[in-house]
Amino acid sequence: MAELGVNVDHVATVRQARRAAEPDPVWAAALAELGGADGITVHLREDRRHIQDRDVQVLRETTRVKLNLEMACVDEIAELACRLRPQQVTLVPEKREEITTEGGLDVAGQPGTVTDYVRKLQDAGIVVSLFIDAEASQIEAAAETGAEAVELHTGQYGEAVDPAAQEAELVKLSSAGRLVRQAELVLHAGHGLNYQNVCPVASIEGMCELNIGHSIVARAVMVGMQQAVREMKDLITR
Ligand code: PXP
Repeated sequence: MAELGVNVDHVATVRQARRAAEPDPVWAAALAELGGADGITVHLREDRRHIQDRDVQVLRETTRVKLNLEMACVDEIAELACRLRPQQVTLVPEKREEITTEGGLDVAGQPGTVTDYVRKLQDAGIVVSLFIDAEASQIEAAAETGAEAVELHTGQYGEAVDPAAQEAELVKLSSAGRLVRQAELVLHAGHGLNYQNVCPVASIEGMCELNIGHSIVARAVMVGMQQAVREMKDLITR
């Protein structure tokens, strides 16, 4: 059964809108845990637009479930990760002007660089996952790096409006999931998943972890974090 990683970046985005102390993503993480989250995910971006170094540090000290740090292949953040040692790092691509992560990490295009970061993080005792598009070439390249897991990018599935397009994206994800399992990598997925579209992805054979942020925080604004997480967890485990 897939585990739920709750991404609390958007809580930090609201805080940073006023450069204030609240709302605190650390409090949101605690409430997410109470709602049944199996993990807490944060993306420490180079420009520090939402999550701050302090957040990662305090979450590392207080989170009782798995802490998954999303980061780009950048030395400064890798050093911080090796010092704080979250249980898992997910390597993602990062462009300064993007609103959110666009597309998967091009592992096939830069295998040497990615492998160096995978090794450095693993040497610090961190499990490494690579956020990639659902393509055979990227899965093969990911396996070559020695990473333990891959997170399949579900953004196109999430954006598909008509049922036929959504089904086509789901077929692509399921086939990629099979290749991931054949490569003996742990299967994760995330991006653009919500209360309406999560169930078919959670049902893909071998799915171990789903990372979900926007839809949960959006619902939490209306009903509270604990309930929003509980509702998502119910859908995934159904
Ligand atoms: N997985 C990765 C690698 C991401 O970069 C993000 C967005 O920060 C998510 C999952 C969560 O995406 P969403 O906010 O659309 O649920």
